[in-house]
Amino acid sequence: MGNVHVLDHPLIQHKISFIRNKETGTKEFRELVDEVAMLMAFEITRDLPLEETTIETPVIKTKTKVLAGKKIGLVPILRAGLGMVDGMLKLIPAAKVGHVGLYRDPETLQPVEYYIKLPSDIHERELIVIDPMLATGGSAKDAIQSLKKRGAKNIRLMCLIAAPEGVEVIKEAHPDVDIYLAALDEKLDDHAYIVPGLGDAGDRLFGTK
Ligand code: PRP
Ligand code: URA
Repeated sequence: MGNVHVLDHPLIQHKISFIRNKETGTKEFRELVDEVAMLMAFEITRDLPLEETTIETPVIKTKTKVLAGKKIGLVPILRAGLGMVDGMLKLIPAAKVGHVGLYRDPETLQPVEYYIKLPSDIHERELIVIDPMLATGGSAKDAIQSLKKRGAKNIRLMCLIAAPEGVEVIKEAHPDVDIYLAALDEKLDDHAYIVPGLGDAGDRLFGTK
């Protein structure tokens, strides 16, 4: 079964409080999402493999460690996932970025895929699927399915806020996928919005509605 990691570092919790607040405007919301994505990238890369190298300091020749060059791919789910890409790239600048376009039909609540463009070597990359919200889990479940269909082998899912219902859907459909969250909330409301949540992530990021 995939593990669920709640990355509840104090800085992340602090910033998530401002992100949730309905008084937070678009500019600040965007900046905070960017910052939290960067902090989460710091935590999610904790297990990246290292290798030994030899360098010379001004004092002596010494052995040190550098990243072993594991290839990473970021896959934001459009549109709200875009808000987390730059923050993550600040820490993982060599990552390639693929895009999956999905929206949740407001009537049926089912995800509809409208776009996909991925790095050609996804089968050899550690992919991090990113989306601020994991609500019913339908969008992330389908996005991950799409990646697997195209050869992806190692996938993690990173979201700001999740509902328990969405977490269960991913655990059931994709037991090989670890989930990284900044917060695990209480439940979904009758419109499948996360409670307490932050509202509509795409609208708050891009100032629509
Ligand atoms: C939001 C969010 C997720 C999805 C989560 O996107 O960014 O992708 O809903 O809901 P689910 O877990 O129930 O599938 P939305 O469908 O509003 O599209 P948008 O990003 O284009 O606004
Ligand atoms: N999508 C959002 O943007 N917010 C929610 O609470 C649920 C789905």
